[in-house]
Amino acid sequence: MIFDTHAHYDDGAFDADREELLTQIHSEGVQLVVDPGCDAESSRRALELADRYDFIYAAVGFHPEELSKLTDNALEEIARLAEHEKCVAIGEIGLDYYWDDSRREEQKALFARQLELALALDKPVIVHDREAHGDSFELVSRYSALRGVFHCYSGSAEMAKELLKRGWYLGFDGPVTYKNARKTLEVLEICPPERILIETDSPYLSPVPMRGKRNDSRNLRFVAKKIGEIKGLSADEVISITNTNGRTLFRI
Ligand code: NI
Repeated sequence: MIFDTHAHYDDGAFDADREELLTQIHSEGVQLVVDPGCDAESSRRALELADRYDFIYAAVGFHPEELSKLTDNALEEIARLAEHEKCVAIGEIGLDYYWDDSRREEQKALFARQLELALALDKPVIVHDREAHGDSFELVSRYSALRGVFHCYSGSAEMAKELLKRGWYLGFDGPVTYKNARKTLEVLEICPPERILIETDSPYLSPVPMRGKRNDSRNLRFVAKKIGEIKGLSADEVISITNTNGRTLFRI
């Protein structure tokens, strides 16, 4: 049974058919979902979905792309929302130098505050690291008790080894099925199965052969199949192992 540890079902891309789709994916083998927020409003929406659907859990956090919306009140609200019984992590948080390279120090400060919130609440984190590998690694390494997942992992195999040593999980998404996935496949080779999570990042990052369409958790079968080819496992084995991994990390 599929556990999609990263899907934004609160996104407007699902407004037209959210209820129908969620009912359908659950009946087609999607057993669990974590919906991470990207600011106070989407974190609230993710928790509303978690309240409404047994199989959906939420994470709350402030994404670096939303930096311009940040207020002190917003972070206070994130901290308050994090107390909800179905909030299993702080995320999606991190650094994104691809999107905006000009406010690195502000991004780092926002990231650090939320890492500290996760530690204070004893929750794992969901890390977004885009073109910011060195700083992301340096920041999470400041807090040795911190655990979580590097979502849609795009760093080097060397950095992956260091994260794995420190107890982190690595998330793999649709791009493992793309032609230019060589670097990510090298990371998969060295990542033990018990530290792999499979994620859609729905509505984005649809795997081949659904690339270009709106993504949903059922498409994780294509991601699991590709990972299985690298690890010498069947797609079903990958789905089962990653389900256990997700429930271990998020304590579900
Ligand atoms: Ni995401």
